[in-house]
Amino acid sequence: MLATLRFLGCIATIVAAVPALAQTDFPNRTVNVVVPFAAGGPTDTIARIVGEHMSRTLKQPFVIENIVGAGGTIASSRVAKEKPDGYTIIMGHMGTHAASVALYPKLTYKPDVDFAPIGLAAGTPVLVLAKKEFPAKDLKEFASYVKANAGKLNMAHAGVGSVSFTTCLLLNSILGAKPTAVPYTGTGPALTALIAGQVDYMCDQIVNVVQQIESGQIKAYAIGTPERSPALPNVPTSKEAGLPEFQAQAWNALFAPRGTPQPVVDRLAGALDQALDDPEVRKRLLALGSVIPDRAGRGPQALEKLVSSEIDRWTKTIRAAGPLD
Ligand code: MLT
Repeated sequence: MLATLRFLGCIATIVAAVPALAQTDFPNRTVNVVVPFAAGGPTDTIARIVGEHMSRTLKQPFVIENIVGAGGTIASSRVAKEKPDGYTIIMGHMGTHAASVALYPKLTYKPDVDFAPIGLAAGTPVLVLAKKEFPAKDLKEFASYVKANAGKLNMAHAGVGSVSFTTCLLLNSILGAKPTAVPYTGTGPALTALIAGQVDYMCDQIVNVVQQIESGQIKAYAIGTPERSPALPNVPTSKEAGLPEFQAQAWNALFAPRGTPQPVVDRLAGALDQALDDPEVRKRLLALGSVIPDRAGRGPQALEKLVSSEIDRWTKTIRAAGPLD
């Protein structure tokens, strides 16, 4: 009798394990990667670079879907409610998964509750940029001109909640300036407008603008990080340029809906890790000025800590900047 019970107990254990084992055949079909901004911007660029390699690793297509609006919060809210099976994930960032908490009092998702973090894809320093005709030769002259003429200036951004909106909110609060804020569906289209001189300035992630700065299509007055970027060695830091308060480093990261089974999250995190170790992927990301996460900065636990600390940091910064009007 006892032997029979032990045998049945073993069967029960094996059967119980099957659902977990069934998850490890993930993915067995296309993975949808939602990008909450228009094609051609920094978030889209990073998603395509890492997604392409993850697709090769996991042997299934990774299809990018650009869902725009409200600074990336429409897409983020939608993905938070998707089926937690790993087949719909999002490339979020410092705006959608941190700053938006303070920018939207009625945000319809909680970045630190409604998502299963997969991993950080890239750190993305932010630069102060202007149209090539902007009448300032350095950041000090830029600051003086903006302070004196804000009412006549247009500042481009990718929607309330975006990195470009949040970091230029910081810049404008430091300068005491209130320009006209012009929203776009991403800083891809915003950059096109800046190059055409249709807007005067913006704050954007480095991965969107290296080539345009080097070719003289736009001006870069400073980078908001303690050190210069190896991709743009001639652009001074905000501290060197006389505006040390402007510290603006963003990041892009992959998230799945909360409740996605751990074996699925681990498969996605492992594929992202392999992408970030691939020489060709590293070369492309570094050429665009990205900061590639080291081992300690990778994986779900590190991203969970980053989201929590960034919500605190940007909530304090946004509150200090005063009303958004
Ligand atoms: C942002 O401003 O949040 C992003 O740069 C927008 C984008 O990736 O297009």
